[in-house]
Amino acid sequence: MVGEVPFTDIHMDERTIGSVEDVLRSGRYVKGPVVEEFEESFADKCGTTYAVGVNSGTSAILLGLQAVGVSKGDDVFVPAHTYFASVSPVLSLGANPVFVDVDPQTYTMDMDKLAERIVDSENPEAVIPVHLYGQMAEMEQVTELAEAHDLDIVADACQSHFAKRDGDYAGSIADVGAFSFYPSKNMTVAGDGGMLVTDNENIAEQARALRNHGRDEDGVHRHLGLNYRMSEMLGAVGREQLKYIQEWNEGRRRAASIYDKKLASIDAVMPPVEKDDNKHVYHLYVIQAPDRDGLREYLDQNGVGTGIHYPTPAHEHPAVIDRCGETTRKSAERITDRIVSLPMHPRISEEEIDKVCTLIKEYYEA
Ligand SMILES: Cc1ncc(COP(=O)(O)O)c(C=O)c1O
Repeated sequence: MVGEVPFTDIHMDERTIGSVEDVLRSGRYVKGPVVEEFEESFADKCGTTYAVGVNSGTSAILLGLQAVGVSKGDDVFVPAHTYFASVSPVLSLGANPVFVDVDPQTYTMDMDKLAERIVDSENPEAVIPVHLYGQMAEMEQVTELAEAHDLDIVADACQSHFAKRDGDYAGSIADVGAFSFYPSKNMTVAGDGGMLVTDNENIAEQARALRNHGRDEDGVHRHLGLNYRMSEMLGAVGREQLKYIQEWNEGRRRAASIYDKKLASIDAVMPPVEKDDNKHVYHLYVIQAPDRDGLREYLDQNGVGTGIHYPTPAHEHPAVIDRCGETTRKSAERITDRIVSLPMHPRISEEEIDKVCTLIKEYYEA
């Protein structure tokens, strides 16, 4: 008999727990060899030349934008449907987020809309494609547009560790890729942490300086940076987690395919769409459903945890409206009322998924 089905299951995999002991004994807690090893392995696995560990995914985006040269008054294209951390670094640099509507099936930036926004922009500088929920945006089109209009690409891969498109890993097809290791992500450092990846030596050097008060290797502060460093303890956890991330991603994909099969017979709901040539890593399993709040309540009453990612479109937050005024992005606004994230983690069982899907069927068809 299946009991409660939690929305997620965040606990440290036993195999990664011993990893911090040596660091604790070493007396070296920041700027040490463990984060360096984590960076090297991450870059290697991701297929990039450099990786720079930082204290959050938000910092990775911020330092990426700074390193490619985004500054006050620049236009930066961001999806209208994303976590607010894709937008706040743009605002904090004094640049203007230009909101691009999303594809209502895949939730990533709509490429036709991106092309239109770029043409309308007076000061286009950079684009932040977000690989949302675990699936990559259409990077070949982003790259084409970026080349045509001289834009830098800072890819927000915070939800898409080792997702793939056409054989390339998330974060690798961009000037900068940014990852988060927040505890609920596909891999974590058991705290806040992030990684910036790039093939560009100058960007890597700048990011390394910016995370450490703008101090370069000669000890000179050429840039204005703050403290965005990753601690050695967290680096040790990340280095271990990297060994198992592919296995955990496969667990998520297995769970998604069970959901897909069971939900296929329920006409009311729309399961996630995995685009051709994409390998989705299902950070979240998001469906669209009518009377979404009623469904959530029914699932909750029956012991099933759900979430909404995200309840407010990015362009409708007061922090944006105060700076940029009001805008409308129709698809992002429409899906906000319909999306619900179902329980998802690598260890969820077929029986648990069956319980969730049976309840959804009961709700719409009983
Ligand atoms: C899409 C997206 N962008 C950026 C971030 C920011 O990452 P962090 O919370 O590590 O700063 C997150 C995670 O929370 C995210 O999901």
